[in-house]
Amino acid sequence: MDRGLNFARFLIEQKKRSKDIDDGLVSLVNDVSRACKNIAIAISKGAVGNFLGDAEAVNVKGEQQKKLDVVSNQIMIDFAARSGNLAALVSEEMDEVYPTAHDNQSGKYLLIFDPLDGSSNADVNISVGTIFSVLRCPDDCVNPIAADFLRPGTEQVCAGYAVYGPSTMLVMTLGDGVNGFTLNREIGEFILTHVDMKIPVDTREFAINSSNQRFWEAPVRRYVSECLEGTGGPRGANFNMRWIASMVAEVHRILNRGGIFMYPRDTKDASKPGRLRLLYEANPMAFIVEQAGGAASTGRERILDLAPEQLHQRVRVILGSKNEVERVVSYHSETATEEFKSPLFNVRNLFVQ
Ligand code: AHG
Ligand code: MN
Ligand code: MN
Repeated sequence: MDRGLNFARFLIEQKKRSKDIDDGLVSLVNDVSRACKNIAIAISKGAVGNFLGDAEAVNVKGEQQKKLDVVSNQIMIDFAARSGNLAALVSEEMDEVYPTAHDNQSGKYLLIFDPLDGSSNADVNISVGTIFSVLRCPDDCVNPIAADFLRPGTEQVCAGYAVYGPSTMLVMTLGDGVNGFTLNREIGEFILTHVDMKIPVDTREFAINSSNQRFWEAPVRRYVSECLEGTGGPRGANFNMRWIASMVAEVHRILNRGGIFMYPRDTKDASKPGRLRLLYEANPMAFIVEQAGGAASTGRERILDLAPEQLHQRVRVILGSKNEVERVVSYHSETATEEFKSPLFNVRNLFVQ
């Protein structure tokens, strides 16, 4: 596929190459791309558009919503739900399945999305993004329910993200490699600029929120401490570290120059099996990363093989350059029983002096 194609033309060419891509999917993905352009406009207005700061509500996670979370969610619903190609959607910002059938006509697809990822960054003018995942509706799903969305990531027919950074980009896979499009604001179109993106298999750069270090599981502690030992340690090399607090921006960096991103489970809140969400963060990113030659794991299982149990369930995420992800996975398999003790027993406290 040639650089310079616009997004709509790219989809037409892609449809010619695959019998699995039909007009409904092309039209839906086009609608999602238009929603992303409109979210980009809202974000770029920032304080001038009165878009910064908190909204009045908390979301399903009990987290304070930002105004831009609410605005981005509504934009995506407006574009995707009215297209006629969707049967229903699920969003990070909504508790339940949102039905989208028109005049009793149900579309063939299900859309799952995180309307604004890294939204705490928007107030300080740092990159944020939108993540989306498309599933084919099961045959009988006229009025889809939550169970229709609870399918392994291997069943995704499309996944992508928009990153709203110095330039706005849309990066997407339809299961045939990963391509990146840059928004040309003068003509209002996404243009193919990054053809068949591939993640280098090796890297010397990792991304993790180190402030949680004392709460990590042993395999992750081991991996990071070996990286930090540099040339004098077992890796025999110096490593660089980055943390943007926006998964979209981290994955985008990794797609462009390699790296490993980790958000492991930690004991800060032992009731949570990780920070990130399986359906609208881990699965679409895992699909993209694998299509670009990388790997995505919980440390013990391939993310795309997981059988989801809840719409908003959390999961551990380790993804990026293949050789580094496989190394972290091997550290997990060497730890047969998980050393995952309560913080009460691994820091100085009432019980351990
Ligand atoms: P969201 O804004 O959609 O809730 O997602 C934020 C996520 C993810 O993008 C990022 O990797 C992580 O939360 C940041 O976590 P910390 O606050 O621990 O840095
Ligand atoms: Mn997110
Ligand atoms: Mn979000």
